[in-house]
Amino acid sequence: MAHISASVYTSHIPAIGAALDLGKTQEPYWQPVFKGYEYSKTWMQQNKPDVIFLVYNDHATAFDLDFIPTFAIGTAASYAPADEGWGPRPVPTVQGHPELAAHIAHSVIQQDFDLTIVNKMPVDHGLTVPLSLMCGQPPADHFSWPCPVIPFAVNVVQYPVPSGQRCFALGQAIRRAVESFDADLNVQIWGTGGMSHQLQGPRAGLINKAFDNAFLDQLIADPAAAARIPHIDYVREAGSEGIELVMWLIARGAMADVAGGKAPHVAHRFYHVPASNTAVGHLILENT
Ligand code: DHB
Ligand code: FE
Repeated sequence: MAHISASVYTSHIPAIGAALDLGKTQEPYWQPVFKGYEYSKTWMQQNKPDVIFLVYNDHATAFDLDFIPTFAIGTAASYAPADEGWGPRPVPTVQGHPELAAHIAHSVIQQDFDLTIVNKMPVDHGLTVPLSLMCGQPPADHFSWPCPVIPFAVNVVQYPVPSGQRCFALGQAIRRAVESFDADLNVQIWGTGGMSHQLQGPRAGLINKAFDNAFLDQLIADPAAAARIPHIDYVREAGSEGIELVMWLIARGAMADVAGGKAPHVAHRFYHVPASNTAVGHLILENT
């Protein structure tokens, strides 16, 4: 049967994609950011999964205010990097895994989560920047990403957005879905977005290191408590875009300890300010 071997958590800041695409990673501003992902790239090579289930949010790219799915699962064979206004990122097309995605859709919907099924969508920085950070920067025309990816888009842009509790319970349902797929696949689940940031209004530029680090501590040690954080606390403490952190609870809910297994091993933890308007947070948790 398929199984979830590890979860990865990372910010998805678009300027990181631009720094990579424009060859600026060794500039003094960016160097400390990319240094924090050196271990992660080696870890990815040593722990290459068969499929990545990648939880992210679309930033009014594939979906706009005409159409706002709360949870959308990509069941397509491939996904093109989106043009977000300055041309598509020069990275490979993302290959999907339609069989596993369709199975997860079936299982999770039967477990009472109403997913939107998406057979065609471009993927924006929310998905491609985490892939670049973890897998390096394969040129678009020669190479591909190391494995197929199932995109799972969460609405954290237009209220009402799902609660942390709902996201945490959804992660548990996704785990059950993966474990009932009849093929020996090693699946990683990634939660992306965060950490504290606010992009607009009088509080634009807000960063809260104390909140972010407490969130990382609690996500590792007591995710059920982290799931109880209400929206208003994210917005107040982590800024309006800090609400992206609820997506990390989907990945965390899919880990073995939440289903009665052993606590995960913290393979890597990284935190850095600043990167664009955002605090960069990153964790790798392995099921043991
Ligand atoms: C920034 C961060 C984001 O998560 C995002 O989606 C857009 C911009 C930023 O820090 O600039
Ligand atoms: Fe974002």
